[in-house]
This record gives sequence, structure tokens and C-alpha cells, in this order.
Amino acid sequence: MVKSSDVSGFYKKSPEDRWQIIRSFGDLTDAEIETIRNTGALKFDQVDRMIENVVGAMPIPLGIAVNFRINGRDYLVPMAIEEPSVVAAASNAARMARERGGFTTSASGPIMIGQIQLVGVPDPHGARMTILAHRDEILSIANEKDPMLVKVGGGAKDVEVRVVDSKRGHMVVTHLIVDCRDAMGANAVNTMAEAVAPRIEEWTGGRVYLRIISNLAVRRLVRARAVFAKDSIRTGEIPGDEVVEGILEAYAFADADPFRCATHNKGIMNGIDAVVVATGNDWRAIEAGAHAYAAWKSGGYRSLTAWEKDANGDLVGTIELPMAVGLVGGATAVHPTAKANVKLLGVKSAQELAEVIAAVGLAQNFAALRALATEGIQKGHMALHARNVAATVGAIGDEIDRVAEILVKERKVRMDRAKDVLAEIRTRKST
Ligand code: MEV
Repeated sequence: MVKSSDVSGFYKKSPEDRWQIIRSFGDLTDAEIETIRNTGALKFDQVDRMIENVVGAMPIPLGIAVNFRINGRDYLVPMAIEEPSVVAAASNAARMARERGGFTTSASGPIMIGQIQLVGVPDPHGARMTILAHRDEILSIANEKDPMLVKVGGGAKDVEVRVVDSKRGHMVVTHLIVDCRDAMGANAVNTMAEAVAPRIEEWTGGRVYLRIISNLAVRRLVRARAVFAKDSIRTGEIPGDEVVEGILEAYAFADADPFRCATHNKGIMNGIDAVVVATGNDWRAIEAGAHAYAAWKSGGYRSLTAWEKDANGDLVGTIELPMAVGLVGGATAVHPTAKANVKLLGVKSAQELAEVIAAVGLAQNFAALRALATEGIQKGHMALHARNVAATVGAIGDEIDRVAEILVKERKVRMDRAKDVLAEIRTRKST
């Protein structure tokens, strides 16, 4: 029988019916269904309200990055990520940064941009002037939509209008500049943009299509800086000043070549996304903003970090990128694990959270470049990977470390070898 994915009203079905449907569609076993429906710290009802067509939850490991000192304060940083080495690397980098006081950070303020796309006006520059002349009215229409935000000092603060030349001719794009305070802001900004749009049509005689937040949050930038003393970053036989040179070469490579830069920035996002996920924030928005910013800021895809050598020969790292994270609204406010993680961090504002995240991104980049420019990353990766492989072939308890150690020593981190090693260990144990 051909299986059909045409399941009408899936969302209306009871959880039991949904499990039954996926069980028969995917030939899933009872154990597999049990795994899928285990929602861990969340009640099924909570998960069921968060998204549509829910059948369960997908747990990912939560680790704690230690050693972070930011603006003179210590933080334990929760990181939710499935990739080995990331948490260890961030902690290690933060330990090295501590020697020179850790990270210092700043931010441009929690300002987001809402876009309103207007087409069909014969005089786009004239329409631009007309819209700008209604600035105060636009702001008051927008602010009426969110009195709470206005009460806490946020709200629509300004209007900008751009004429964008597109494949379909000129478009007049209004930017609503909104201070989102402790919210990520997508809901507030989208509601405001939708409220303002009909008036823009009225004033200009054009037609509005899109009304939506921009994830290229160039007014919500966050920055971090750290100095890594050359003597504290030596590794193995490699002296600190050589490590500094290696990192500078790695950075120059990334900044000059988009093929390398994508991976370099991905390494930064390993740290950033993990904290964004752990705090229940929208990591797709952060990813989109980061990569768009990396391309926008200087007209080509560039590094989100910069690395230099100071007068002492020590390494100075900086990072600057958009960071639209919130503490109120969204999953951050309802997900119990996210709430506990935010409490652990002890951040008092969305901006403070954003600054911590920037510091983690910088630390992550440092750790990756230091490893890549010296012994390579496989050594560290393999040690963790070997433990996973050992567990996958059935090693338990202290067998995991014993199997992993042998695989790494033999440089054969593979399932087939792991099976043999485990069997050998067990035979030795039983004789
Ligand atoms: C792997 O997840 C991240 C790295 O590839 C980052 C980089 O190459 O800079 C190690």
C-alpha cells in the first residue's frame, strides 16, 4: 500500500491518534513512539500549545560553560547543543581570557526595524517625502498598539524611508524603528507595521504588500572584547607568540575568503546558538542576522570577529553582531528549562543576555582558531567522538572510557574497531 502524507486535521486529532498515524506511516516500534512522546521537563500540554501537530519533544544536551568573567562579573553559561567539544572549548577560552580580566562588552540598544513595502507609486521619491511628513502620526499609530512597551520606555521611536530599486521597479520601504526593551520584538514590531500600513497606502495611493520585522538588526548590535595573554595561550610545544601569529593568519584567511569565512563564522555561531537555544530564544533569527550582517557591513561576506596583536604582542579579539534576544515573551517566558537557565545566568535585561552571548561567540572563535592554527581540531573532537562511538556499540560505565582511550590511541575511531575492542575488554574481564 502506498503511504499518504495527506492527513487532514492532524492538529485536531488526539495525541493517541497522532502517535498511531506516525507509528503506521514510519513502521515505528512501541519503543520508538515512547522515545518520541517523552517530553522531559515539559508537560505534553505545554508542548502541544507551543507549536502545531505535536507528537513529542526533541531533547538536546545542556552543558554549562565555566570560567566566564564579563564586565567584572562571573557567569555560568548554559549551552544547549548536540555537538561535542563546543562547551569545553568555550570554557577553556574563557579561562584563558580571565587572566587579563575576561570580556568587556557593550551594546547599541534593543532597537529593531519593521519594514513596510510599498509598490505602485509613480513618484517613489515624492512618496518617500509624503511618508516622512507623517512621522509623528506613524509613531502614534504604532505606539497605540503596544502601550505596555511604551510604559517601560520602549515603543516606536523613529521612521526612515528608503527607495529600493528592485527587479519589479522602485519600491518605497518604510522602516519603523522600535525600541523593544526586554522583548525580542517580532510580535510588537509586526503588529505595529500592520497597523501603520493602511495609512501609508492612503497617503501615497500605492499598494502595501509586506509588513514584517527585519532580522538584519543593525541597530541592535552587541560587542565584546578580550585580551589573551600570549604566554597563557601556548599549547604543547608551540610558544605563545607563534600561537598568536597562527590565529592572525587564520583570521586573515577567513576575512579574505568566503569559503573559509562561512566555517569561521559557523564556529562563532556554535557558541552563540547554544546560549540562544538554552534561553529559549529564536536562533534562526540570530543566525539570519549574523550572516546578513557579516555580508552587509562591508559589502562582502566577512568575519564577525577581528583579531589583532597589541603592543605587548598579546592577542586582542573583538566581535560585533546583531543580537535580537529577549527575556519576556516567547519560549523564554514559558519553557521551564529556559526559565531556569536565565535564572542561573542571572541576567537582568535582554541587553545583558545579548552581551553574554557575544562574549561566548568570541570565546568560541578563539578556541577554534587556536586549535586549527596549532594541533588541528580533530584531536579534541576525536576524544569525545570516541566516547560516543563506544557508547553506541554498547559500552557501559567505565567501559566507555576504556574503549574510547584505545580507539584514540590507535587513531581508529570507528564502529567496527569499537565493537572488537569492547569484545576484547569483556573477554579479558570474564577470564
Ligand atoms: C566546527 O563546528 C567549527 C569549526 O569548523 C570552526 C572553524 O573552522 O573556525 C572548528
